[in-house]
Amino acid sequence: MPYAHITGWGMAAPEPILTNDDIAKMVDTNDAWIRERTGIRERRIARDNEFPSTLGVEASIKALTIANLRPTDVDLIICASSSPEYIFPATACLIQDQIGASKAGAFDLLAACSGFIYALNMGAQAIRSGSIKSALIVGSETLSRFINWKDRNTCILFGDGAGAFVLQASERPGGVLSAVMHSDGSGGDLLTLQGGGSRYPASETTLHDGRHYIQMDGKEVFRFATRVMASATQEALSAAGLTVDEIRWIIPHQANIRIIEAAARGLKLPMDRFIVNLERYGNTSTASIPIAMVESLEKGQIKPGDKIVMVGFGAGLTWGALAAEWTGPIPSKGHVHPEQYRAFGRLRSFVRRALRFIEGLLYRREL
Ligand code: UT7
Repeated sequence: MPYAHITGWGMAAPEPILTNDDIAKMVDTNDAWIRERTGIRERRIARDNEFPSTLGVEASIKALTIANLRPTDVDLIICASSSPEYIFPATACLIQDQIGASKAGAFDLLAACSGFIYALNMGAQAIRSGSIKSALIVGSETLSRFINWKDRNTCILFGDGAGAFVLQASERPGGVLSAVMHSDGSGGDLLTLQGGGSRYPASETTLHDGRHYIQMDGKEVFRFATRVMASATQEALSAAGLTVDEIRWIIPHQANIRIIEAAARGLKLPMDRFIVNLERYGNTSTASIPIAMVESLEKGQIKPGDKIVMVGFGAGLTWGALAAEWTGPIPSKGHVHPEQYRAFGRLRSFVRRALRFIEGLLYRREL
């Protein structure tokens, strides 16, 4: 059975920064409260021309470059997002088109902030089954578009960004070792984005009621998160036959420093075994784990051979954890340039649209 190795990684963050002081000009809050209660100092906010697909493409090209894998060789793209560009088409298909991944299947996965762990597990399982050889896993968000900037419970927390991993099959043991996924829909009402779905299609009433904004019972979500982070980590470890002492790094969903500290206490681990960067990005939902990992890799913290656990929770309710042995890029001959495939992707997309148009004209004449 082939192993699924993480061989490439990339991230993208919009440049505009929104600080706690900026938010304090919009709602009744202050920098000290936000830092003390969440650990967040600032977050990135997408410009008008940035979307989950554009951020996802930037992160994906970087990940494919590190993996030295052509977009045309990618078998599957899974995009986890809590702020997808449309209900459909899937953001994954927009990314597939823009990077020129001509043979890839593509779909979106919705498990809120646990989405990246779910998607990584699904991609790894497809590789383990032998049905595909490579997968691009993307977590991408422009959550700022769904924030009520008058609601101090939520507007202090979230930020925009994207992260992407490449998974590749190899006979060498390692890579994704185990994963657990859980859900409890009885807590679905604790964190919602209702407007625009089929229960509350967009209308003047949904707009008036603010259903197009994220709504959250922060305290309840906090309690749930502190309960599940340590237990999910333990489950993933025992499924992989590992103990917590063998784990070099835990990469938690970057939601609130107090939730991460509770997980550390639950696992009896010091905080320096946790990778944390939420002070600069806030909660970027599906992108938070890959962004934290990419930054950590760039600092040289995570090294090949390290055993790691990613663990997260989110709306649904959902939660999960994934244990992996870090591989790094698989050595290969020659260099591919995934960036160049963007031009190929644009051309390919244009030609396909033009052909579809001409075919449509001819078809209409035949009728
Ligand atoms: O990916 C999953 C996403 N969601 C989460 O991770 C959310 C998890 N929950 C949390 O992170 C925390 O519950 C929050 C950061 C949202 C809130 O922190 P808290 O420590 O649970 O605060 P609280 O809701 O218990 O509120 C304490 C006080 C209240 O005032 P009173 O009733 O004690 O007078 C709030 O009105 O703090 C007040 N408050 C604020 N004050 C200043 C609430 N939000 C703010 C604010 N600035 N932004």
